[in-house]
Amino acid sequence: MASAELKSIALKMVARKKGILAADESTSTMTKRLDSINVESTEETRRQWRQLLFQTPDIGDYISGVIMYDETIRQTDDSGQSFVDLLVSHDVISGIKVDNSTHDLAGAPGEFITEGLDGLRGRLAEYYELGSRFAKWRALLIIGDGKPSDYAIHTNAHALGRYSALCQDQGIVPIVEPEVLMDGSHSIDDCLSATTRALNAVFAELDKQNVDLNGIVLKPNMVISGSDAQNRAPAAEVARKTVDCFLETVPSDVPGIAFLSGGQGDEESVVNLDEINKIANSEDLPWEITYSYGRGLQAAPLTAWLGKPENVSAGQAAFQKRGLDSSAAREGVYA
Ligand code: 13P
Repeated sequence: MASAELKSIALKMVARKKGILAADESTSTMTKRLDSINVESTEETRRQWRQLLFQTPDIGDYISGVIMYDETIRQTDDSGQSFVDLLVSHDVISGIKVDNSTHDLAGAPGEFITEGLDGLRGRLAEYYELGSRFAKWRALLIIGDGKPSDYAIHTNAHALGRYSALCQDQGIVPIVEPEVLMDGSHSIDDCLSATTRALNAVFAELDKQNVDLNGIVLKPNMVISGSDAQNRAPAAEVARKTVDCFLETVPSDVPGIAFLSGGQGDEESVVNLDEINKIANSEDLPWEITYSYGRGLQAAPLTAWLGKPENVSAGQAAFQKRGLDSSAAREGVYA
């Protein structure tokens, strides 16, 4: 596909005031989320949950695109309209998770490799037909005990490169997600070092594999203290170190950066994004900076819903609140 078309989709994904809803939990992850509110996970309850989110009346004001799971992109709302068409009616772009999850990396105990490259070209062609215009692939890197190893960084970067090139061949914008996990007691500087190494490796591979940087969206972690660290760095330090890390590693051709929330608390994920965009507002950074949150957008509405039909409006109101707060933070005007 022409570079201009990929770029225009990527720019729409990171449009002002909007971000991406990650609603692409695998069936096992969604089952854990539903278990937490004592709702049995079935194809129907998962459909009801995603319908609640996608039917929120003003979703298009703060969501540019939704990442779905294979089951979800084939589902319909109660009226029989496909979720893809429902989202189009709100001017929201459909996307699809195409990796087959993380697996033990051979020869590197405690580290992971993301699988799913075999047959990917054919799957992407089918997802394009189903209406998907972007995709997601998540690589997972762990901090601690000498991790992440150069080996884990390199093999995951190589897979992200192969996935990205295939997506662009099929007219699909790749979300490139090298997540350095927040779990652990490491310092923010450990995260800075691991994130810098990971991003340098990813962009070296994208370059070698002829990926057009104008037609990708980067989905990174913030540079942040481990969730169990003794003295967790405040938002201003998170923002400064995150921006400095990206200035060193992310080429200016990349249209946008959309953060994962990665288990940050609801308020934390919004305040940190707000601080980062306050810097963006004053320093004229080359990329748009927004959110691609899963838990950060869904945790509050899930608890408001509790699987009860009479709570659908309350769930949608909670989703709207998280969306509007994230949208304000995307503009750097939340606090
Ligand atoms: P979280 O925002 O919950 O980290 O999920 C985003 C995502 O898509 C992870 O792959």
